[in-house]
Amino acid sequence: MGRVLVTGGAGYIGSHVMVVLGRKGYRCVCLDNFSNSSPRAVERAQVLAPGAIEAVEADIRDTEALRRVLAGADISSVIHLAGLKAVGESVEKPALYRDNNVRGTQCLLEALAGSGVRTFVFSSSATVYGNATAMPIGEDAPTAPASPYGENKLEIERMLAKLAGEDPSWRVASLRYFNPVGAHESGTIGEHPSGTPNNLMPYVCQAAAGLRGPLRVFGTDYPTPDGTGIRDYIHVMDLAEGHMAALTALPLTPPGTVMTVNLGTGMGHSVLEVVDTFERVNGVKVPRELAGRRPGDVPICYADCSRARQLLRWSSRRTLEDMCRDAWRWQVLNPAGY
Ligand code: NAD
Ligand code: UD1
Repeated sequence: MGRVLVTGGAGYIGSHVMVVLGRKGYRCVCLDNFSNSSPRAVERAQVLAPGAIEAVEADIRDTEALRRVLAGADISSVIHLAGLKAVGESVEKPALYRDNNVRGTQCLLEALAGSGVRTFVFSSSATVYGNATAMPIGEDAPTAPASPYGENKLEIERMLAKLAGEDPSWRVASLRYFNPVGAHESGTIGEHPSGTPNNLMPYVCQAAAGLRGPLRVFGTDYPTPDGTGIRDYIHVMDLAEGHMAALTALPLTPPGTVMTVNLGTGMGHSVLEVVDTFERVNGVKVPRELAGRRPGDVPICYADCSRARQLLRWSSRRTLEDMCRDAWRWQVLNPAGY
């Protein structure tokens, strides 16, 4: 079995993916430019999966560097997570996002063209669905991304589908993540956003730790049972296992396969449910205040996960309690991140 090239492997999701793969006997080459991560994340992943992870510092837009990696390492598949992911920043700097995310992927594919690697797993996002109204969201729901970041994801999905359409030696999985949260059970790897967290769980952790002011609950008048927004939170370890399931499933599919698969739990939880669960399982207080809606937020978003069960033989196992417990363990053990 060849190695898995994990672009963006030093990041939040990538580090967990490498640990899951490494502990199942896969060997990984982590390729990252550390623009939004720390080499320490890779070192800690290496401790959790001894001997399984090699690290290369490079940018996916550096085609020559990619070619060198592909020539020197025995790579048989790619999990492509490298990318910029801040929705708000993508609105301010659309050109930067297009260059890093879309052109970066083009460079990666260009380098792969000269190699024998034809198995490709891509990190897409539920954000491609935009303001979907019918729940749960199936993969055939209309796409309508509401930000340059979301447009990048859709453009890359289409680029990959076109590639496999023209050259059926490719097998591609585009995985549309819902809301990844939590951390590895050891508490040694996890998510540490730079600056004030935009996402709910990292903010809850930092507010509970007294590092931030009260959590602002954005919107209390949504058409949901308690009035707060509902999302499909998925434990990052379940998500990581979903990547391994995709890597296992792809080689068994017909040549030219392109699968687009939601990775979520299929269950929605409101902001107040998350906060109350976090307080209960961790025995801590999360200071909070009710606030107005955050512009751009949808009221409810959760996945139809039947395709993942069917095609990947995968479904999530961990509960909201697990997510809250593991997120807090990471926060307590690493108050300043890596
Ligand atoms: P992250 O920022 O922690 O990880 C991304 C990694 O990619 C970082 O280590 C960063 O340094 C690296 N990177 C960025 N540009 C690069 C480049 N040009 N060359 C090499 N490395 C580069 O983010 P994450 O949360 O781990 O997300 C991983 C992927 O999953 C991203 O593509 C993101 O868009 C996607 N995704 C994330 C979420 C989420 O909620 N975290 C949801 C849906 C999709
Ligand atoms: C955001 C991104 C989405 C990305 C997802 C991944 C936007 C518009 N969307 O989605 O592209 O795929 O993260 O995790 O940025 N909330 C609060 N207070 C806070 C923070 C959040 O009440 O301080 C609420 C939000 O209003 C929402 C829920 O918590 O109802 C989840 O928010 P968040 O974690 O930011 O995720 P999304 O908005 O779903």
